[in-house]
Amino acid sequence: MLTIKKLRKSMGGRILFEEADMVINWGERIALVGANGTGKSTIFKIILGQEEKDGGTIVKDEYGMIGYLEQEAGNPGEATILEIATGINEEMRNAMATLREGIKNETTGSDEYGAAQDKYEELNGFQLDPQAAGGYRSQNSR
Ligand SMILES: Nc1ncnc2c1ncn2[C@@H]1O[C@H](COP(=O)(O)OP(=O)(O)O)[C@@H](O)[C@H]1O
Ligand SMILES: [Mg+2]
Repeated sequence: MLTIKKLRKSMGGRILFEEADMVINWGERIALVGANGTGKSTIFKIILGQEEKDGGTIVKDEYGMIGYLEQEAGNPGEATILEIATGINEEMRNAMATLREGIKNETTGSDEYGAAQDKYEELNGFQLDPQAAGGYRSQNSR
């Protein structure tokens, strides 16, 4: 789902990596391990498009979704780790927040809650974590 070829990046006159190849297939779990300052965060930023690469190609397949938990995360507020880790975009975060509020305030019958459920489903929320999603789903089986 993610293929990196001949990725190259220098920072401050130092080559962090060159000729870097990596293929991540569906279902694989990988860890990128290396000493501080060797360029791990930089690779992630390049994949996210937050940092320019000096060369190489990155190809994501169309079904892949990229979520990124920053090294220095801000105040999570009421969000759970699952929500932070899977709340990959604003839309999803808003839907999750509405679901959480609805359950807390027992307003799960509202149109707003229903719309958030539809959005959550549309964005494949139920595939992110079946067990956690069960909490949201069960609220609807009245
Ligand atoms: N904005 C920047 N300007 C110059 N050098 C940077 C910048 N960001 C990171 N670096 C340097 O690039 C190197 C790799 O950083 P980073 O990817 O954060 O490493 P890691 O995540 O592996 O600890 C480090 O040596 C760091 O000092
Ligand atoms: Mg880092």
